[in-house]
Amino acid sequence: MAIEWSDTYATGIEQIDNQHKELFKAVDRLLSACNGGKGKEEVGKLMDFLKDYVITHFSDEEELQKKHGYPKYLEHKKVHDDFVASFGRLMEKFEEQGPTLSFITNINKTVVDWLINHIGQVDKEMGKFIKEKIG
Ligand SMILES: [Fe+2]
Repeated sequence: MAIEWSDTYATGIEQIDNQHKELFKAVDRLLSACNGGKGKEEVGKLMDFLKDYVITHFSDEEELQKKHGYPKYLEHKKVHDDFVASFGRLMEKFEEQGPTLSFITNINKTVVDWLINHIGQVDKEMGKFIKEKIG
């Protein structure tokens, strides 16, 4: 399964949309490496990159929400924190097992599905609020 950006995921906030596009690219690189039979070291580097990028992106997104007094900030932050926790569990499994088939399945479920749902709904809702605020 590939992950591809589509304008239907756009929140309308340029900085966030650009980061989301980078996230999609990072996940796509990760999946391609797994599916292309790359080894643990190479896939591990892509996992590390993705983890760091996710953390930076979430913190930028949360700052933006705070700055604009987004009423669902705490709720949204909790969803981000939960994702970081489940990504951490995935990293632990990866450390033990490497890029196995079950790891790839987990990436698809935990990361790809989550990102598409989160960006397509939760982030778009946030974007709508902030855009109206900025006017
Ligand atoms: Fe978000």
